[in-house]
Amino acid sequence: MRIAVVGGGPGGLYFSLLAKQLGPGHEISVWERNAPDDTFGFGVVFSDETLGGIEHADPVIYAAMEREFARWDDIDIHFRPGDGRPDRLITSGGHGFAAMSRRTLLGILQDRCRSLGVTLRFRTEAPDPDELSGGHDLVVACDGVNSATRAKYADRFGPTVDTRQCRYMWLGTDKVFDAFTFDVRRTPYGVMQVHAYPYDATGSTFIVEMHDSVWRRAGFSAGSFAPGESDTAAIAVIGDLFADLLDGQQMRANNSRWISFGTVRCESWRAGNVVLLGDAAHTAHFSIGSGTKLAMEDALALAASLHEQSTVDDALAAYDAERRPVVVSTQRAAQASLEWFENLGRYVHQEPEQFAFNLLTRSRRVTLDNLRLRDPEFVSTVESAFSAGTGVAAGTPPMFHPYRLRGLELRNRVIVSPMDMYSAVDGVPADFHLVHLGSKALGGAGLVMTEMACVSADGRITPGCAGLWTDEQEAAWARVVEFVHGSSGAAIGLQLGHSGRKGSTKLMWEGIDEPLDEGNWEVCGPSAVAYSPDSQVPRELTRVDLDLIRDQFVAAAVRGARCGFDLLELHCAHGYLLSSFLSPLSNRRTDEYGGSLENRLRYPLEVFDAMRAVWPAERPMSVRVSATDWYDGGIEVDDAVRIGRAFAEHGVDAVDVSTGQVVKEERPAFGRSYQTPFADRIRNEVGRELGIAVVAVGALSSWDDVNSVILAGRADLCALGRVHLYDPQWTLHAAAEQGYAGPGAEWPAPFRAGSRRPQAGRTDGPRPRLELIRAGAPRTRHTRWRP
Ligand SMILES: Cc1cc2nc3c(=O)[nH]c(=O)nc-3n(C[C@H](O)[C@H](O)[C@H](O)COP(=O)(O)OP(=O)(O)OC[C@H]3O[C@@H](n4cnc5c(N)ncnc54)[C@H](O)[C@@H]3O)c2cc1C
Ligand SMILES: Cc1cc2nc3c(=O)[nH]c(=O)nc-3n(C[C@H](O)[C@H](O)[C@H](O)COP(=O)(O)O)c2cc1C
Repeated sequence: MRIAVVGGGPGGLYFSLLAKQLGPGHEISVWERNAPDDTFGFGVVFSDETLGGIEHADPVIYAAMEREFARWDDIDIHFRPGDGRPDRLITSGGHGFAAMSRRTLLGILQDRCRSLGVTLRFRTEAPDPDELSGGHDLVVACDGVNSATRAKYADRFGPTVDTRQCRYMWLGTDKVFDAFTFDVRRTPYGVMQVHAYPYDATGSTFIVEMHDSVWRRAGFSAGSFAPGESDTAAIAVIGDLFADLLDGQQMRANNSRWISFGTVRCESWRAGNVVLLGDAAHTAHFSIGSGTKLAMEDALALAASLHEQSTVDDALAAYDAERRPVVVSTQRAAQASLEWFENLGRYVHQEPEQFAFNLLTRSRRVTLDNLRLRDPEFVSTVESAFSAGTGVAAGTPPMFHPYRLRGLELRNRVIVSPMDMYSAVDGVPADFHLVHLGSKALGGAGLVMTEMACVSADGRITPGCAGLWTDEQEAAWARVVEFVHGSSGAAIGLQLGHSGRKGSTKLMWEGIDEPLDEGNWEVCGPSAVAYSPDSQVPRELTRVDLDLIRDQFVAAAVRGARCGFDLLELHCAHGYLLSSFLSPLSNRRTDEYGGSLENRLRYPLEVFDAMRAVWPAERPMSVRVSATDWYDGGIEVDDAVRIGRAFAEHGVDAVDVSTGQVVKEERPAFGRSYQTPFADRIRNEVGRELGIAVVAVGALSSWDDVNSVILAGRADLCALGRVHLYDPQWTLHAAAEQGYAGPGAEWPAPFRAGSRRPQAGRTDGPRPRLELIRAGAPRTRHTRWRP
């Protein structure tokens, strides 16, 4: 097979040598416009996991790399808040990194290519891709982030580049750091961060990054330099700003200038017999250290697929199938990490230990328990700082810290998220609700929320939805509340809502959001905009209607107070009536209730104020919002921050941060804890300042997630829905699995006999001797240089 490789970076070279090893008959040529030792960047870093793959793919390469690696275990976080608090250095161990200079890595790969018979053409611009494609069976385009091949066949690859808000510069320094080092400091211009790691015994990579606004304040936008030169003026300023970190050592530049990171994504990585690989196909922010790793893993997968499949077509399909999920997942983590750094200024108020934990868990891939395994000492320091001054015993898992909302003390941070059971008759909650909510309360959560109780018959979503507009409904809810208060340590909250334009539909399991086959009632909304093409067009509400519905909310709140509910939540999410006032996609009004966000907020706030006036002063109120509509032109997180602020100014005690379900054509980015960044933003921009709690919800799947969210300060409370349908005793089981039996995790007295996991016979063989020795050994900082 004749294979043309465009670009002699790590991706192109590694692919070529692996493909040549697997198919010695292949004729492989690499075109590289630079000289062999003419390279940008300083060091490349790999985690232990990546190295496993490289080790097995080509032991010769691995052995050569192994000889060159600088290895270390620690991450040092220098935190210099610049607000009168002292600077701190916090170290977290057990991470396992290896790095080497990019030049050395390319040298190793080039030597191996030569020895295997790959043709390397340096200082040579690759021919036009059309020409290469005609003369070769396969063209592998590894021509980097600015890939001309990708641009040439843009209509086939469907690329997008998401250019971000930070500016960064790759530099080197003679200072040899002995750990992966983050330095976050407030400068006269704003918060900047340095991200540095050693690559050999002579130097370290030193990347400085800051938000575009900080960059402008520092005057960096005025830099002028000739093509190919470094921005020496900016480098001198950076040297001064970080002089203490550099310890008098020199900075090194190599064509170093400011860059805005762009995340490259492609709908397809192939166009006929041309395939993209490495940075040409996708990029991931450097803060998760993955560019070189992804390129080399792509190379491995493509070489293996070519070997395993009988045609180029099948090989390219197999390559895509193997790599796309990994790339999407890495890009998701990288996106979380880059957004965290973009918004760094939001977190510098945190205590140093919490800040360090927040930084380490920023991509949400690393959790409290991961870190506990790597470095128990670090985790115990962070947990102690979280407990300090709260009166909560050290060692209490974060999720079992109590939380106060006005006069309500929650025993822990877990909430059973509101879930419609579609099992009421005429809006009356049935025995089903008593058993459902009662069992959740017995299951250990601090707060159990009812499903959305509707404020009128027409305000129901389906005929099976529960409500609170009749005496019979009130009596049935009072029975549920009485059970929860009498038999459990949980509090119980009432969620009130009106379905608006999403009403008059079938039960969830008969056809979610589909109109009823018969007996439909008229639906209403801010404007005559249907939820989906199949939905009824709602009647636009008049001023008289608005007053009537507001009064229905008030009447239901009065009934809820009489039932004894501990908390009242106003449902302003998921496209129901109040949510559809907030979203410009469903609210097209031209009166004072439509148009600007201030106007769109007017009716939900009127309802909130009216309810707050009748709801007992010592009992808290929360509001549930959709922090994004996941659709162009809809609510975005900036709006959600303003919505949170508006409710906080009107006296809300907590904002429960959900997303979406406002328009049928939404495009949500689902994934583990995918809504948490929205909660994080509202908490750290509004919650802290105005003293309100923020609730995270959505695919929080483990107690480790909950502990991590709380400990990092991303939210104050966590609501979990479906996991409670899977396991009504989720919170008690979480306590047992963590070996915790203290306050906030009490089993109901009648259940105590079952409070330990049933015995399953002996499963614990003798522990390996070395593990025992290691467990007793003091933690050491381990840095090694070769040669
Ligand atoms: C300025 C900069 C510095 C970086 N420094 C580091 C670092 O220190 N550590 C790290 O881990 N990652 C670093 N990265 C990211 C990392 O280099 C990439 O993720 C990784 O190199 C991707 O490998 P690749 O083979 O896909 O592309 P690249 O390494 O970008 O290689 C592409 C190659 O193609 C060549 N090329 C492009 N077009 C043509 C053409 N038409 N004809 C001939 N040759 C062509 C280029 O000269 C280049 O050598 C850096 C990125 C940038 C932009
Ligand atoms: C069966 C079901 C019914 C739901 N009903 C409601 C509801 O009445 N009110 C509400 O605000 N959210 C409702 N939700 C959304 C949940 O409260 C929660 O936000 C969502 O399930 C995401 O959390 P999870 O991933 O922990 O399940 C419902 C979810 C499910 C699965």
